[in-house]
Amino acid sequence: MAITPFTTHHGMVDILPEDAVKWQFIEQIIRKTARKFHFSEIRTPVMEQTGLIARGVGELTDIVSKEMFAFNRGEDQYVLRPEGTAPVARAFVEHRLDQRGGVQKLFYIGPMFRAERPQKGRQRQFHQFGAELLGSAMPVADAEIIAFMIDIYNQIGIKNITLKVNSVGDPESRKAYKEALTAYFTPYKNKLSEISQVRLKTNPMRILDSKESEDQMLIENAPLISAYLTDESRAHFEQVLRYLDDLGIGYEVTPRLVRGLDYYTKTAFELVSPDLGSQDALGGGGRYDLLIEEIGGPATAAVGFASGIERLIIACDALGIDLGSAPGLDVYIVTRGEPAINWAISKLPELRNAGLSASMDFAGRSIKAQMKEANRESARYAIIVGDTELETGNFTLRDMAKSEENSLPFDQILKKIGQFTR
Ligand code: HAM
Repeated sequence: MAITPFTTHHGMVDILPEDAVKWQFIEQIIRKTARKFHFSEIRTPVMEQTGLIARGVGELTDIVSKEMFAFNRGEDQYVLRPEGTAPVARAFVEHRLDQRGGVQKLFYIGPMFRAERPQKGRQRQFHQFGAELLGSAMPVADAEIIAFMIDIYNQIGIKNITLKVNSVGDPESRKAYKEALTAYFTPYKNKLSEISQVRLKTNPMRILDSKESEDQMLIENAPLISAYLTDESRAHFEQVLRYLDDLGIGYEVTPRLVRGLDYYTKTAFELVSPDLGSQDALGGGGRYDLLIEEIGGPATAAVGFASGIERLIIACDALGIDLGSAPGLDVYIVTRGEPAINWAISKLPELRNAGLSASMDFAGRSIKAQMKEANRESARYAIIVGDTELETGNFTLRDMAKSEENSLPFDQILKKIGQFTR
């Protein structure tokens, strides 16, 4: 019986070589920017203890209640990480990074997993780059994190973006605000969507995030958090905005911006792009001053951001931004017969050691087919080797672009093309 070929899981995507080149380009910009901002890379496992994510991200969030890829093995509960902040916070506590003195400035790039309904810009395995600045309660840290994020988009050339910022306050501000929202929405309870009715009981601030049409009118007239911020939260927010002004970073204060993760305190932000359709968030983040204590660590104020790489690529495609293509090959050795193959396999290392990319035929093809392949691989040069060349010690060097041929000994070929690297 024929086997039905296997495919990837729904919402999990192969990145083929022509696309991997774009990813490398983006990753290179992220690393370069991290170096400029002096953030160090951290790599955490893709699996964490389910309890960490449930506690860190919040039991009532969509991520934890509906979207976790979680399973048990023996006594242990594993979850594929849905985001990077709780894992970084866990590593910070586990390795006592607070004792290294000063603040910790960390960045990461890697796959995240959420069992969401896949659509354009929304996958079940997706990739984030992000940064976390741990150990600072100062508003200048919030501005630095936002500047880091924006710098990457600027370098890639994505201009059409809006930074939305808000303060979700400290626990005291939020308690007062939640009471105000409950008092406001309760008389309209039956008019709210089903999901918002549930949220009215569990976390009324999440109603503000609703996309349901029946909720929109009510949300529009709901009280704003700005009226409930404590003096300290308000002063912090105003200072962050002043720093953004100083940095020349444009923003929109968006009083109804609430984020889908429970750990935020004070500053919350999102970077949106009109080129993304319904999944319009390129990235987001904020301050999470209580998370590290929440997961058993020392009281540590922190702020960070994360952005989706797939969405960044979608935005680039929409804007016609070229993220590069695979570099062509420098040299292709065309072989005729077994002695020529022997010669080629011994010369490839010399070409490669000279810094050239070099390849040959691995499929036993005719000379014509090998030349075709050299063209397909955009080879700059072909070296053609057969019995005659081996006898005379002169090999045909073909400049593929100019269609020029020279007959030269190998050391002269190496000298001639060794100066040329892409
Ligand atoms: P988040 O808003 O959940 O925040 O995710 C950040 C970004 O990841 C989103 O803006 C989006 O670009 C991308 N993303 C999220 N889910 C998907 C998906 N299913 N498919 C494709 N892309 C997706 C966080 O994860 C926080 N950890 C950010 C943070 C860091 N806060 C403080 N530090």
